[in-house]
Amino acid sequence: MKVFAINGSPRPDNNTGRALGVMRAELEKNGIETEVFSLGRENIHGCTGCRGCFSAADNFCVITGDSLNSAAEKARAADGLVFAVPTYYAGIAGTMKCFLDRLFYSSSRFFRGKAGASLTVARRAGGVDTIHQLNNYMNLAEMVIAPSHYWASVFGMSPGEIEKDGEGIQTIRRNAGALAWLLKIIDAAKETHPFPAIEERVRTNFIR
Ligand SMILES: Cc1cc2nc3c(=O)[nH]c(=O)nc-3n(C[C@H](O)[C@H](O)[C@H](O)COP(=O)(O)O)c2cc1C
Repeated sequence: MKVFAINGSPRPDNNTGRALGVMRAELEKNGIETEVFSLGRENIHGCTGCRGCFSAADNFCVITGDSLNSAAEKARAADGLVFAVPTYYAGIAGTMKCFLDRLFYSSSRFFRGKAGASLTVARRAGGVDTIHQLNNYMNLAEMVIAPSHYWASVFGMSPGEIEKDGEGIQTIRRNAGALAWLLKIIDAAKETHPFPAIEERVRTNFIR
């Protein structure tokens, strides 16, 4: 089983990368393979709402020239997904937001029934808002979100500072343990208890 993790920090080796390292170590301890994709300082265009992905071959995004589609291919093939991002202005850091809008608009239907987890690093406040925003993507994609005993928001600013946040580190480690457990449960039940079949969406816009 494989988890594809996206590190949305422009500084991949800083606190977000280190927090993700805690999650990876626990996943691998539980026999789950991991691959990390770092957005770094790449220029990722935001979603233009053109809906080109709805009719494109394999539903890939029609904006090319950045790494979105190659990452989407890996995300679709993985059993589980992890989203790690620094908190900027009490929310998802901008490059990652652009990336996630396009990833989920083009690939949501490939993520149904997959397990996922999210984590963030904040200096002081806003981490829970970021976790909520990350989980919104997974909820609407019909993914199953791994729990922990607290929100997976770790405190840190200068490189390595998160290591002093013992409770935050423990929360991420438990989150990874729950993700590994979920992946194994889903895999064991895939023949006997498949995820409910996809349905034609009833779309009721708020226009009457
Ligand atoms: C543009 C910007 C906005 C930020 N906004 C917040 C914030 O709203 N709340 C907070 O606690 N920290 C905020 N921070 C601090 C970062 O979340 C923190 O430094 C974190 O370690 C960054 O992750 P990194 O080490 O992976 O780069 C902000 C940092 C930047 C650069």
